[in-house]
Amino acid sequence: MSQPLVILGIAGSLRRQSLNLGLLQAAQELAPASVRIEIATLHDIPPYNADDDGKSHAGVDAFKQRILAADAVLFATPEYNHSIPGVLKNAIDHASRPSGANIWAGKPAAVMGASPGQFGTARSQYELRKVLAAVGMLVMSAPEVLVTLAQGKFDDQGKLTDEKTRAHVGKAVQALADWTLRLRAGA
Ligand SMILES: Cc1cc2nc3c(=O)[nH]c(=O)nc-3n(C[C@H](O)[C@H](O)[C@H](O)COP(=O)(O)O)c2cc1C
Repeated sequence: MSQPLVILGIAGSLRRQSLNLGLLQAAQELAPASVRIEIATLHDIPPYNADDDGKSHAGVDAFKQRILAADAVLFATPEYNHSIPGVLKNAIDHASRPSGANIWAGKPAAVMGASPGQFGTARSQYELRKVLAAVGMLVMSAPEVLVTLAQGKFDDQGKLTDEKTRAHVGKAVQALADWTLRLRAGA
């Protein structure tokens, strides 16, 4: 049997009970057997400082290694003040540097997000897509995963329980796998 496709899920929230971490955990459960989803959180990434470019930092180095080892990246972003959380932008900046060593470039990606509000992170996902384009990621355009009114769709343990949303997340994971294989084949 061929090796599973490795998708690195990156949660843009540091919160223990994060809805977006829960969304990635659902993606992990719903992935087909040919796909393995690993999850990275951003707790060990310090504020980016260009003075430290080229210096080693355990948390940043480990994060970069996980990106390099992945076939694709699946972002789950909250919406903070109509944009992406600073911790997520900070982590993207880290892995785009030093100059000439941007490890995001050419990597397939997809974006999803959950919010208690009515827009389901639509505004932050567009902000994120802009940043991912800047670092040269190849971002899947559809299906979009915008989980609106999310608090009613997760249980107290942070598990995504809404069946319709779970089915949609499963489809999005399959679509990201297909997108990754298509890019690999140059199609
Ligand atoms: C600083 C801050 C700004 C926020 N701004 C928005 C917003 O613009 N739109 C929105 O839908 N939710 C907003 N929220 C609510 C978040 O969507 C909510 O806290 C969500 O649970 C965060 O994602 P998480 O559960 O993965 O941590 C904001 C929350 C914080 C803390």
